[in-house]
Amino acid sequence: MAGAQKSLGNIRRNFDPWNDPAAKPLIEFDHVTKRFGGSVAVDDLSLGIYDREFFALLGPSGCGKSTLLRMLAGFEEPTDGDIRLGGESLKGVPPYRRPLNMMFQSYALFPHMNVEKNIAFGLRQDGMARSEIDARVEEMLRLVKLEPFRRRKPSQLSGGQQQRVALARSLAKRPKVLLLDEPLGALDKKLREETQFELMDLQQELGLTFVIVTHDQEEAMTMADRMAVMRAGKICQVAPPAVVYEAPTSRYVADFVGNVSLIEAEVESVSSGMATLRSPAGRIETETAAALTPGQTVAFAIRPEKVRLSRRAAEAGAANTLSGTVWDIAYLGDVTLFNIRLSGGETVRSTVINAARVAPEQIAWEEEVTLTFERDAGVVLAE
Ligand SMILES: Nc1ncnc2c1ncn2[C@@H]1O[C@H](COP(=O)(O)OP(=O)(O)OP(=O)(O)O)[C@@H](O)[C@H]1O
Ligand SMILES: [Mg+2]
Repeated sequence: MAGAQKSLGNIRRNFDPWNDPAAKPLIEFDHVTKRFGGSVAVDDLSLGIYDREFFALLGPSGCGKSTLLRMLAGFEEPTDGDIRLGGESLKGVPPYRRPLNMMFQSYALFPHMNVEKNIAFGLRQDGMARSEIDARVEEMLRLVKLEPFRRRKPSQLSGGQQQRVALARSLAKRPKVLLLDEPLGALDKKLREETQFELMDLQQELGLTFVIVTHDQEEAMTMADRMAVMRAGKICQVAPPAVVYEAPTSRYVADFVGNVSLIEAEVESVSSGMATLRSPAGRIETETAAALTPGQTVAFAIRPEKVRLSRRAAEAGAANTLSGTVWDIAYLGDVTLFNIRLSGGETVRSTVINAARVAPEQIAWEEEVTLTFERDAGVVLAE
């Protein structure tokens, strides 16, 4: 796996303290468990987040993301385990004494204060000089594009605008660590993308550490240095987005992040870095770093953009060549997603980039097609 990972991840910048055994994380969750009555929200979870890292938490509803942030912010105490910041335990430290700020999933704005006053609130409390407050509020208004709305009360704003006020308010104090729980959920797609890049610039510029919870995996992939995929209070995988996407370690992660086709198969033979799999759809020859034994049942996971689609008839017996019928076509503008039903009954997806505005010979429903892929296109998953 080490070889495969070398070329993945760290696309954005030269920042990978998690690969440095001497680097100490800024934030450490050390075997943290949180129980509410009989149910476990966070389950013996250990995780390190580094200074200046942009870290994203991803997972289905109810998996414990907000609970994890709330414990870090000090609004909940762990039932078991310890959370440390800069090497010091946060046990018993009240929220306002922690050098971090949290923007909540339900952003509570002060209803009687206008936008400016909402943003300035924390700064006033800290006794910052008037001129400095004004300058900071101005900067924040510009950042979230709310200059024209500065005198409005929250009730006079749309949901997305209110969310931007909350974002500006939590950024205004420039906390060392900023915890963001679904910060962009109410924004439309375009504004959301703009704000993502602005958040990234801001984080870099101010040297902050961000921990963000999001339902939107594209958002996590765009912004994060590393992301953690959670399930039922546990972390399944934590790695840079490209590693999670290209080298998932389980069916669950492969399926949760991005589009994937999972083909159930049996390991036929294994030799240095290569495996041959047998599936009802055909023979698969693939590179793999997994420790496999012949006879073992695995899933072969392959992303739709790595599957080529053609009308050519399949060569009999050729590996990595599957034949099937077009079952579904989804035109998405930039790409078209084809669902192909294989002879064994499984479905494999293939995306075709719409490079030309008018494609002369579009493949249509019910057509017989051949799918091919390279030996390094997919991942073998035992878990
Ligand atoms: N105060 C509480 N009392 C009892 N149970 C709670 C409490 N807070 C959270 N839970 C439970 O803990 C689990 C994790 O909740 P949490 O809010 O962390 O989920 P989440 O991952 O943030 O979900 P979402 O994506 O929907 O916001 C859920 O089953 C939830 O019902
Ligand atoms: Mg939540």
